[in-house]
Amino acid sequence: MSMLITGIAELVTCDDTLEGALDEPLHAGLGVLRDAAVVIGGGGEDNAPTVQWLGPASQAPQADWAVDLEGRSVIPGLVDSHSHLVFAGDRSAEFAARMSGTPYDGGGIAVTVEATRAASDADLRALLQQRVQEMRTQGTTTVEIKSGYGLTVEDEVRALRLAREVTSEVTYLGAHVVPPERRDGGGRAAYVDLVCGEMLEACAPHARWIDVFCEPASPHAFDAEESRRILEAGRDAGLELRVHGNQLSEGPGVQLAVELDAASVDHCTFLSDADVEALSGSRTVATLLPGVEFSTRQPYPDARRLIDAGVQVAIATDCNPGTCYSSSMPLMIALAVRETGMTPAEALRAATVGAAASLRRTDVGRIAVGLRADFALVDAPSWLHIPYRVGVPVVRALEL
Ligand code: NIG
Ligand code: FE
Repeated sequence: MSMLITGIAELVTCDDTLEGALDEPLHAGLGVLRDAAVVIGGGGEDNAPTVQWLGPASQAPQADWAVDLEGRSVIPGLVDSHSHLVFAGDRSAEFAARMSGTPYDGGGIAVTVEATRAASDADLRALLQQRVQEMRTQGTTTVEIKSGYGLTVEDEVRALRLAREVTSEVTYLGAHVVPPERRDGGGRAAYVDLVCGEMLEACAPHARWIDVFCEPASPHAFDAEESRRILEAGRDAGLELRVHGNQLSEGPGVQLAVELDAASVDHCTFLSDADVEALSGSRTVATLLPGVEFSTRQPYPDARRLIDAGVQVAIATDCNPGTCYSSSMPLMIALAVRETGMTPAEALRAATVGAAASLRRTDVGRIAVGLRADFALVDAPSWLHIPYRVGVPVVRALEL
Protein backbone atom coordinates (compact mmCIF):
# COMPACT_ATOMS: atom_id res chain seq x y z
CA MET A 1 0.00 0.00 0.00
CA SER A 2 1.26 3.48 -0.84
CA MET A 3 -0.05 6.86 0.31
CA LEU A 4 0.22 10.19 -1.47
CA ILE A 5 0.44 13.22 0.80
CA THR A 6 -0.51 16.40 -1.06
CA GLY A 7 -1.36 19.98 -0.12
CA ILE A 8 2.07 20.58 1.47
CA ALA A 9 2.74 24.33 1.37
CA GLU A 10 6.42 23.88 2.32
CA LEU A 11 8.24 20.58 2.58
CA VAL A 12 11.46 20.99 4.60
CA THR A 13 13.76 18.06 3.81
CA CYS A 14 16.98 19.33 5.47
CA ASP A 15 18.70 17.92 2.40
CA ASP A 16 20.91 20.79 1.27
CA THR A 17 21.69 19.11 -2.05
CA LEU A 18 18.03 18.65 -3.09
CA GLU A 19 17.39 19.64 -6.70
CA GLY A 20 14.65 22.23 -7.21
CA ALA A 21 14.79 23.50 -3.61
CA LEU A 22 14.12 27.18 -2.94
CA ASP A 23 17.38 29.07 -3.17
CA GLU A 24 16.32 32.07 -1.07
CA PRO A 25 18.78 32.80 1.82
CA LEU A 26 15.86 32.53 4.24
CA HIS A 27 15.69 28.78 3.58
CA ALA A 28 19.45 28.19 3.25
CA GLY A 29 20.50 24.62 3.91
CA LEU A 30 16.95 23.38 4.48
CA GLY A 31 16.14 21.87 1.06
CA VAL A 32 12.63 23.41 0.97
CA LEU A 33 10.12 22.51 -1.77
CA ARG A 34 7.01 24.65 -2.13
CA ASP A 35 3.66 23.07 -3.17
CA ALA A 36 5.10 19.63 -2.66
CA ALA A 37 3.91 16.06 -2.37
CA VAL A 38 5.34 12.90 -0.80
CA VAL A 39 4.60 9.25 -1.43
CA ILE A 40 5.16 6.85 1.45
CA GLY A 41 4.70 3.14 1.63
CA GLY A 42 6.30 -0.21 1.90
CA GLY A 43 7.61 -1.35 5.17
CA GLY A 44 11.09 -0.43 6.26
CA GLU A 45 12.61 -1.43 9.53
CA ASP A 46 9.87 -2.50 12.00
CA ASN A 47 7.39 -2.29 9.12
CA ALA A 48 7.43 1.49 9.45
CA PRO A 49 6.52 3.31 6.21
CA THR A 50 9.38 4.81 4.21
CA VAL A 51 9.55 7.69 1.75
CA GLN A 52 9.22 6.39 -1.82
CA TRP A 53 9.01 9.68 -3.72
CA LEU A 54 9.02 13.42 -3.02
CA GLY A 55 8.80 16.41 -5.34
CA PRO A 56 6.52 19.09 -6.76
CA ALA A 57 2.82 18.23 -6.37
CA SER A 58 2.36 18.78 -10.12
CA GLN A 59 4.60 15.75 -10.80
CA ALA A 60 3.28 13.41 -8.12
CA PRO A 61 2.78 9.80 -9.15
CA GLN A 62 -0.37 7.75 -8.42
CA ALA A 63 -0.75 5.98 -5.08
CA ASP A 64 -3.27 3.65 -3.44
CA TRP A 65 -4.79 6.47 -1.45
CA ALA A 66 -4.23 10.16 -0.79
CA VAL A 67 -4.26 12.63 2.09
CA ASP A 68 -4.53 16.39 1.60
CA LEU A 69 -2.74 18.56 4.18
CA GLU A 70 -4.59 21.64 2.90
CA GLY A 71 -1.68 24.07 2.85
CA ARG A 72 0.15 23.02 6.00
CA SER A 73 3.93 22.46 6.09
CA VAL A 74 5.99 19.37 6.84
CA ILE A 75 9.41 19.17 8.51
CA PRO A 76 11.51 16.20 9.65
CA GLY A 77 10.51 14.94 13.09
CA LEU A 78 12.45 17.06 15.59
CA VAL A 79 15.42 15.43 17.34
CA ASP A 80 15.85 16.17 21.04
CA SER A 81 19.37 14.93 21.65
CA HIS A 82 19.63 15.77 25.37
CA SER A 83 17.06 15.04 28.07
CA HIS A 84 16.76 13.69 31.60
CA LEU A 85 13.20 12.36 31.55
CA VAL A 86 13.42 9.62 34.19
CA PHE A 87 12.66 11.43 37.43
CA ALA A 88 10.06 12.00 40.12
CA GLY A 89 9.45 14.92 42.46
CA ASP A 90 9.01 18.64 42.09
CA ARG A 91 11.47 21.57 42.15
CA SER A 92 9.25 24.44 41.15
CA ALA A 93 10.19 26.33 44.32
CA GLU A 94 13.88 26.14 43.32
CA PHE A 95 12.92 27.68 39.96
CA ALA A 96 11.09 30.48 41.74
CA ALA A 97 14.12 31.14 43.96
CA ARG A 98 16.34 31.40 40.88
CA MET A 99 14.01 33.91 39.32
CA SER A 100 14.64 36.01 42.43
CA GLY A 101 18.42 35.73 42.10
CA THR A 102 19.56 32.45 43.68
CA PRO A 103 22.24 31.02 41.34
CA TYR A 104 22.16 27.44 40.03
CA ASP A 105 25.00 25.18 41.20
CA GLY A 106 23.67 21.63 40.72
CA GLY A 107 22.81 21.26 44.41
CA GLY A 108 19.12 20.65 43.70
CA ILE A 109 19.90 17.41 41.87
CA ALA A 110 19.98 15.69 45.29
CA VAL A 111 16.29 16.59 45.81
CA THR A 112 15.33 14.79 42.60
CA VAL A 113 17.58 11.83 43.45
CA GLU A 114 15.71 11.31 46.71
CA ALA A 115 12.28 11.51 45.07
CA THR A 116 13.32 9.27 42.16
CA ARG A 117 14.74 6.56 44.40
CA ALA A 118 11.51 6.57 46.41
CA ALA A 119 9.22 6.24 43.35
CA SER A 120 7.87 2.87 42.21
CA ASP A 121 8.72 1.47 38.78
CA ALA A 122 5.12 1.98 37.71
CA ASP A 123 5.08 5.63 38.79
CA LEU A 124 8.43 6.39 37.10
CA ARG A 125 7.30 4.65 33.91
CA ALA A 126 4.06 6.63 33.85
CA LEU A 127 5.89 9.93 34.34
CA LEU A 128 8.38 9.04 31.62
CA GLN A 129 5.70 8.03 29.13
CA GLN A 130 3.76 11.21 29.81
CA ARG A 131 6.87 13.33 29.09
CA VAL A 132 7.68 11.46 25.87
CA GLN A 133 4.10 11.93 24.73
CA GLU A 134 4.31 15.63 25.61
CA MET A 135 7.37 15.82 23.34
CA ARG A 136 5.59 14.09 20.45
CA THR A 137 2.72 16.52 20.62
CA GLN A 138 5.33 19.26 20.06
CA GLY A 139 7.00 17.56 17.08
CA THR A 140 9.81 15.54 18.68
CA THR A 141 10.10 12.01 17.27
CA THR A 142 13.64 11.07 18.37
CA VAL A 143 14.76 11.59 21.96
CA GLU A 144 17.90 10.85 23.91
CA ILE A 145 17.30 10.06 27.59
CA LYS A 146 19.85 9.98 30.41
CA SER A 147 19.89 8.29 33.77
CA GLY A 148 21.50 10.26 36.58
CA TYR A 149 18.85 10.61 39.30
CA GLY A 150 19.44 7.15 40.75
CA LEU A 151 23.16 7.20 41.60
CA THR A 152 23.18 3.67 43.05
CA VAL A 153 23.83 0.59 40.92
CA GLU A 154 20.20 -0.58 41.13
CA ASP A 155 18.65 2.85 40.64
CA GLU A 156 20.82 3.69 37.62
CA VAL A 157 20.07 0.32 35.99
CA ARG A 158 16.37 0.88 36.63
CA ALA A 159 16.44 4.31 34.98
CA LEU A 160 18.23 2.93 31.91
CA ARG A 161 15.84 -0.02 31.58
CA LEU A 162 12.86 2.35 31.70
CA ALA A 163 14.45 4.74 29.19
CA ARG A 164 15.13 1.78 26.90
CA GLU A 165 11.40 1.08 26.75
CA VAL A 166 10.85 4.38 24.92
CA THR A 167 14.08 5.09 22.98
CA SER A 168 17.26 3.50 21.65
CA GLU A 169 19.26 6.61 22.56
CA VAL A 170 19.93 5.79 26.19
CA THR A 171 22.74 7.42 28.16
CA TYR A 172 24.38 6.26 31.38
CA LEU A 173 24.94 9.32 33.58
CA GLY A 174 26.02 7.77 36.87
CA ALA A 175 28.49 10.69 36.87
CA HIS A 176 25.78 13.32 37.19
CA VAL A 177 26.85 14.36 40.68
CA VAL A 178 28.41 12.69 43.70
CA PRO A 179 25.33 11.51 45.65
CA PRO A 180 24.74 13.25 49.01
CA GLU A 181 25.46 10.14 51.10
CA ARG A 182 28.96 9.90 49.58
CA ARG A 183 30.12 13.49 49.78
CA ASP A 184 32.15 13.22 53.01
CA GLY A 185 35.61 11.80 53.64
CA GLY A 186 36.81 9.46 50.92
CA GLY A 187 33.27 9.03 49.60
CA ARG A 188 33.88 11.05 46.48
CA ALA A 189 36.84 8.98 45.23
CA ALA A 190 34.97 5.77 46.08
CA TYR A 191 31.98 6.99 44.08
CA VAL A 192 34.15 7.64 41.00
CA ASP A 193 35.50 4.09 41.41
CA LEU A 194 31.92 2.78 41.51
CA VAL A 195 30.89 4.77 38.41
CA CYS A 196 33.88 3.35 36.51
CA GLY A 197 33.54 -0.15 37.96
CA GLU A 198 30.53 -2.06 39.23
CA MET A 199 27.95 0.54 38.20
CA LEU A 200 29.37 0.78 34.67
CA GLU A 201 29.41 -2.98 34.31
CA ALA A 202 25.76 -3.20 35.33
CA CYS A 203 24.66 -0.23 33.22
CA ALA A 204 26.62 -0.68 29.98
CA PRO A 205 24.35 -3.41 28.56
CA HIS A 206 21.36 -1.05 28.79
CA ALA A 207 22.93 2.06 27.24
CA ARG A 208 24.47 3.34 24.04
CA TRP A 209 26.18 6.39 25.55
CA ILE A 210 28.07 7.51 28.64
CA ASP A 211 27.95 11.13 29.82
CA VAL A 212 29.56 13.07 32.66
CA PHE A 213 28.76 16.44 34.28
CA CYS A 214 32.27 17.91 33.94
CA GLU A 215 32.10 21.15 35.87
CA PRO A 216 34.75 22.11 38.44
CA ALA A 217 32.63 25.20 39.25
CA SER A 218 30.02 22.93 40.88
CA PRO A 219 31.14 21.28 44.14
CA HIS A 220 28.90 18.32 43.29
CA ALA A 221 30.06 17.59 39.71
CA PHE A 222 33.32 16.21 38.34
CA ASP A 223 36.69 17.76 37.46
CA ALA A 224 38.75 17.11 34.33
CA GLU A 225 40.71 14.22 35.76
CA GLU A 226 37.65 12.41 37.16
CA SER A 227 35.70 13.04 33.96
CA ARG A 228 38.49 11.67 31.78
CA ARG A 229 38.68 8.53 33.86
CA ILE A 230 34.92 8.00 33.70
CA LEU A 231 34.70 8.60 29.95
CA GLU A 232 37.65 6.33 29.18
CA ALA A 233 36.17 3.56 31.32
CA GLY A 234 32.87 3.94 29.47
CA ARG A 235 34.61 3.79 26.12
CA ASP A 236 36.45 0.64 27.18
CA ALA A 237 33.07 -0.87 28.08
CA GLY A 238 31.80 -0.18 24.55
CA LEU A 239 29.85 3.02 25.18
CA GLU A 240 30.06 6.15 23.04
CA LEU A 241 30.82 9.51 24.62
CA ARG A 242 28.87 12.68 25.41
CA VAL A 243 29.82 15.42 27.88
CA HIS A 244 28.03 18.10 29.91
CA GLY A 245 30.63 20.87 29.67
CA ASN A 246 31.18 24.61 30.15
CA GLN A 247 27.73 25.19 31.65
CA LEU A 248 28.75 27.30 34.64
CA SER A 249 32.28 28.37 33.72
CA GLU A 250 35.01 28.17 31.10
CA GLY A 251 35.79 24.69 32.35
CA PRO A 252 37.71 21.78 30.83
CA GLY A 253 34.64 19.95 29.39
CA VAL A 254 34.88 21.12 25.80
CA GLN A 255 38.59 20.39 25.41
CA LEU A 256 38.17 16.97 27.00
CA ALA A 257 35.22 16.12 24.75
CA VAL A 258 37.17 17.09 21.64
CA GLU A 259 40.28 15.24 22.75
CA LEU A 260 38.27 12.04 23.34
CA ASP A 261 36.26 12.50 20.10
CA ALA A 262 32.95 12.64 22.01
CA ALA A 263 29.93 12.87 19.73
CA SER A 264 28.68 15.94 21.54
CA VAL A 265 29.54 18.45 24.24
CA ASP A 266 26.43 20.01 25.66
CA HIS A 267 25.70 23.46 27.17
CA CYS A 268 28.80 25.33 25.82
CA THR A 269 27.63 28.46 27.61
CA PHE A 270 31.08 29.76 28.60
CA LEU A 271 33.70 29.22 25.88
CA SER A 272 37.26 30.47 25.49
CA ASP A 273 38.74 31.14 22.05
CA ALA A 274 40.73 27.91 22.46
CA ASP A 275 37.47 25.98 23.07
CA VAL A 276 35.93 27.35 19.87
CA GLU A 277 39.08 26.57 17.94
CA ALA A 278 39.20 23.01 19.29
CA LEU A 279 35.56 22.43 18.35
CA SER A 280 35.99 23.85 14.86
CA GLY A 281 38.65 21.31 13.98
CA SER A 282 36.72 18.36 15.41
CA ARG A 283 33.83 15.94 14.84
CA THR A 284 32.35 16.91 18.22
CA VAL A 285 29.01 18.70 17.93
CA ALA A 286 28.36 21.70 20.21
CA THR A 287 24.85 21.20 21.57
CA LEU A 288 23.26 24.36 22.91
CA LEU A 289 20.47 24.17 25.48
CA PRO A 290 18.96 27.65 25.52
CA GLY A 291 16.05 26.60 27.74
CA VAL A 292 18.64 26.24 30.52
CA GLU A 293 19.73 29.85 30.25
CA PHE A 294 16.06 30.86 30.14
CA SER A 295 15.36 28.92 33.36
CA THR A 296 18.56 29.77 35.25
CA ARG A 297 19.04 33.42 34.22
CA GLN A 298 22.52 32.68 32.88
CA PRO A 299 23.84 34.45 29.78
CA TYR A 300 22.91 32.60 26.58
CA PRO A 301 25.59 30.75 24.57
CA ASP A 302 26.86 32.48 21.44
CA ALA A 303 25.81 30.32 18.51
CA ARG A 304 26.92 32.93 15.98
CA ARG A 305 30.51 32.71 17.18
CA LEU A 306 30.43 28.90 16.89
CA ILE A 307 28.76 28.76 13.48
CA ASP A 308 31.05 31.46 12.05
CA ALA A 309 34.02 29.38 13.24
CA GLY A 310 32.67 26.36 11.33
CA VAL A 311 31.50 24.40 14.38
CA GLN A 312 28.57 22.02 13.89
CA VAL A 313 25.83 22.98 16.33
CA ALA A 314 22.71 21.29 17.68
CA ILE A 315 19.96 22.46 19.99
CA ALA A 316 18.07 20.35 22.51
CA THR A 317 15.78 20.88 25.51
CA ASP A 318 17.83 19.29 28.34
CA CYS A 319 14.34 18.63 29.76
CA ASN A 320 14.96 18.05 33.50
CA PRO A 321 13.42 19.23 36.77
CA GLY A 322 16.29 21.59 37.67
CA THR A 323 17.65 23.72 34.87
CA CYS A 324 14.87 23.48 32.27
CA TYR A 325 11.56 21.74 32.77
CA SER A 326 10.44 22.29 29.19
CA SER A 327 9.95 19.50 26.66
CA SER A 328 9.39 21.95 23.81
CA MET A 329 11.79 21.88 20.86
CA PRO A 330 9.77 24.63 19.12
CA LEU A 331 10.47 26.86 22.13
CA MET A 332 14.19 25.99 21.92
CA ILE A 333 14.18 26.96 18.23
CA ALA A 334 12.57 30.28 19.10
CA LEU A 335 15.09 30.94 21.91
CA ALA A 336 18.01 29.95 19.67
CA VAL A 337 16.87 32.52 17.12
CA ARG A 338 16.02 35.27 19.58
CA GLU A 339 18.86 34.81 22.07
CA THR A 340 21.84 32.92 20.59
CA GLY A 341 22.21 34.59 17.19
CA MET A 342 21.05 31.76 14.93
CA THR A 343 18.99 32.49 11.85
CA PRO A 344 15.66 30.62 11.76
CA ALA A 345 17.11 28.24 9.13
CA GLU A 346 20.19 27.54 11.26
CA ALA A 347 17.99 26.87 14.28
CA LEU A 348 15.78 24.41 12.42
CA ARG A 349 18.84 22.61 11.06
CA ALA A 350 20.28 22.51 14.59
CA ALA A 351 17.06 20.88 15.86
CA THR A 352 17.02 18.24 13.09
CA VAL A 353 20.20 17.29 11.20
CA GLY A 354 22.44 18.98 13.75
CA ALA A 355 20.90 17.10 16.66
CA ALA A 356 20.98 13.88 14.63
CA ALA A 357 24.72 14.44 14.04
CA SER A 358 25.20 14.84 17.78
CA LEU A 359 23.76 11.31 18.06
CA ARG A 360 25.92 10.20 15.11
CA ARG A 361 22.75 9.40 13.14
CA THR A 362 21.97 10.15 9.50
CA ASP A 363 18.66 8.26 9.37
CA VAL A 364 16.67 10.89 11.30
CA GLY A 365 16.41 14.67 11.08
CA ARG A 366 15.98 14.56 7.28
CA ILE A 367 13.29 13.65 4.78
CA ALA A 368 14.66 11.67 1.85
CA VAL A 369 13.72 8.76 -0.39
CA GLY A 370 14.47 5.48 1.38
CA LEU A 371 14.33 6.91 4.90
CA ARG A 372 11.59 6.16 7.42
CA ALA A 373 8.64 8.56 7.07
CA ASP A 374 9.46 10.50 10.22
CA PHE A 375 7.61 13.80 9.89
CA ALA A 376 6.28 16.66 11.98
CA LEU A 377 3.40 18.78 10.81
CA VAL A 378 3.47 22.59 11.01
CA ASP A 379 -0.03 23.98 11.09
CA ALA A 380 0.97 27.00 8.97
CA PRO A 381 1.85 27.96 5.39
CA SER A 382 5.58 28.18 6.24
CA TRP A 383 7.97 26.42 8.62
CA LEU A 384 9.04 29.93 9.65
CA HIS A 385 5.96 30.02 11.87
CA ILE A 386 7.86 27.81 14.36
CA PRO A 387 9.97 30.66 15.79
CA TYR A 388 7.54 33.33 14.55
CA ARG A 389 4.47 32.07 16.48
CA VAL A 390 6.43 31.53 19.70
CA GLY A 391 4.45 29.77 22.42
CA VAL A 392 1.68 28.69 20.03
CA PRO A 393 1.39 24.91 19.50
CA VAL A 394 1.80 24.86 15.70
CA VAL A 395 4.05 21.76 15.50
CA ARG A 396 3.18 18.13 16.24
CA ALA A 397 4.49 14.72 15.22
CA LEU A 398 2.61 13.36 12.21
CA GLU A 399 1.12 10.00 13.14
CA LEU A 400 1.10 7.82 10.02
O1 NIG B 1 21.99 19.33 32.16
N1 NIG B 1 23.91 20.25 34.75
C1 NIG B 1 23.71 19.09 34.96
N2 NIG B 1 22.59 18.39 34.82
C2 NIG B 1 21.34 18.95 34.36
C3 NIG B 1 20.57 19.59 35.45
C4 NIG B 1 20.09 18.61 36.45
C5 NIG B 1 19.28 19.16 37.60
O2 NIG B 1 19.49 20.29 38.07
O3 NIG B 1 18.42 18.39 38.06
C6 NIG B 1 21.60 19.85 33.18
O4 NIG B 1 21.43 21.07 33.26
FE1 FE C 1 21.65 17.82 30.96
